[in-house]
Amino acid sequence: MNFLMDTANLDSIRYGVEYFPVIGVTTNPTLITREEVPDPAAHIAAIREIIGPDRQLHVQLTETEEEQMLAEAEAIVALTGKNTYLKVPVSPLGLRVTRALSEQGYGVTETAILSVGQAVLASRAGARYVAPYVSRLDNINGRGADVVAQIAEIFDTFDIGTEILAASFKTVQQIVDVGLAGGQNATVNPDLLRQLVSHPLTDSGIAGFAGDWKRQYGERTLLRFLKK
Ligand code: G3P
Repeated sequence: MNFLMDTANLDSIRYGVEYFPVIGVTTNPTLITREEVPDPAAHIAAIREIIGPDRQLHVQLTETEEEQMLAEAEAIVALTGKNTYLKVPVSPLGLRVTRALSEQGYGVTETAILSVGQAVLASRAGARYVAPYVSRLDNINGRGADVVAQIAEIFDTFDIGTEILAASFKTVQQIVDVGLAGGQNATVNPDLLRQLVSHPLTDSGIAGFAGDWKRQYGERTLLRFLKK
């Protein structure tokens, strides 16, 4: 299971790539507007600069007419280079644009996926990733992880190469459930990523090791003995 960061905040992205094994960053129009930057294109370029050329950057189209969507996709990739994925919201037009972009060799992430049918259609249109929104389903008394499991089963049954990039997480348990359901990738906001690594028993365990060592050897670490 791979992790990406679902944020457009530059400080969070810097911290994330420095400490966490993330393979990329996903953005959407809401995340970018949250940063209140005057030039969103320059901001997207800054994200690419921070994450380097080898991590994935998923950028959502804002145009809503076919020709303009294709032009926007081309301009995004011209700006951010390889390992860029164009997020296309699923709809009949989205599927058509996905097919056109895929045929031109662009990587597409079909986004705003809330049903199994949408995901399967997106895969057939050529999407490299489908992004089911787990929390938004859970919030309406649906089961996001079950939708992920059904998508995974159909992709597996029919040997479909499209991967699941699950999104919209609010709890650590949702991330674990998606992994168990066969979701290969999860894009997670920075706070939740930190929660994923936190555990009070880990903290007390580490404090116990440090306390025991200090009682016996004071400030002298093992390195001090090794290098004496
Ligand atoms: O990037 C799409 C997805 O992560 C949205 O999440 O938290 O707005 O439901 P959220």
